[in-house]
Amino acid sequence: MQNKKVVITGGAGFIGSNLVDALVDNGFNVHVIDNFSGGKKENVNKKATLHVADIRNLDDISPIIDGAEYVFHLAALPRVQYSIENPVETNDVNIGGTLNVLIASQKGAVKRVVYSASSSAYGDQSKMPLREDMIANPKSPYGLHKYIGELYCKVWSMVHGLETVSLRYFNVYGKRQNPDGAYALVIGKFLKQKAQGKPMTITSDGNQTRDFTNIKDVVRANILAMQSKKIGAGEVINIGAGYNHSVNNVAELIGGETEYIDARIEPKDTLADTALAKKFLGWEPEISLKKGLSELI
Ligand SMILES: NC(=O)c1ccc[n+]([C@@H]2O[C@H](COP(=O)([O-])OP(=O)(O)OC[C@H]3O[C@@H](n4cnc5c(N)ncnc54)[C@H](O)[C@@H]3O)[C@@H](O)[C@H]2O)c1
Repeated sequence: MQNKKVVITGGAGFIGSNLVDALVDNGFNVHVIDNFSGGKKENVNKKATLHVADIRNLDDISPIIDGAEYVFHLAALPRVQYSIENPVETNDVNIGGTLNVLIASQKGAVKRVVYSASSSAYGDQSKMPLREDMIANPKSPYGLHKYIGELYCKVWSMVHGLETVSLRYFNVYGKRQNPDGAYALVIGKFLKQKAQGKPMTITSDGNQTRDFTNIKDVVRANILAMQSKKIGAGEVINIGAGYNHSVNNVAELIGGETEYIDARIEPKDTLADTALAKKFLGWEPEISLKKGLSELI
């Protein structure tokens, strides 16, 4: 893989920085695009080339993406509540930024774009597990943005012949997860609260369930999605652990005091059907929540 150029947008963030580490270890020439709106400089592997740039600016990102073999597009403002409160800004980044990444990739003769999509596209569905052929039903601007990103990828494959694939992640957790802010994702937040001797704040009654997916499984899925010969036409593929836990159960596994707070606008349950990931990528989840949590703690 020596000298093969890859670009990771959002490479200073939680998932992106873990992917950067894996690609560096695999001998790629790794370039990161990030504006540090959510990510941090210290997350970025020293062997990667860091470009402080904003995906909303096509002129800035085009020369960076030009000539890359693969682009992993992760940059986003990925918070449900923030998207409700800031619909225009999040639309510009999550949809406008994705469009720019696709245009730059098409013009820069990129071989494939791997897009980080989200299970939030499903919203509430009448059946479980969630399958990729269900009709999307996003419940927030963020879910809508991520879904439109998938559609853009597919259209760019059809219209411009650019290879794309969308990976719909289900609640990712692990090293470098952001534990701060009212809208931080549950595991990072619980671990920080516990470390500070504070009660873990559970929204609603805590019976809502989530399919929690370990970062290492997500990174492996991205690398398989880069390589698989079975995809490239805008396929949408679930990346989830394939089993779910209630938020109460997560608190029990971590152990400690809890406190119940107001509900948020969020789906009641998520659970991934992972058959397509196995078929197209040869990917299966490997790390259980219990094992992943004990590693983190
Ligand atoms: N974490 C999850 O559970 C989860 C689940 C489903 C999908 N996703 C998707 O995975 C991707 C990565 O999520 P994450 O959890 O690592 O989030 P993150 O906030 O840690 O990472 C996003 C990165 O994008 C950067 N960014 C934001 N706006 C930018 C802009 N305009 N220009 C350049 N960089 C910009 C941020 O600085 C940050 O480093 C996102 O696209 C998100 O929608 C995440």
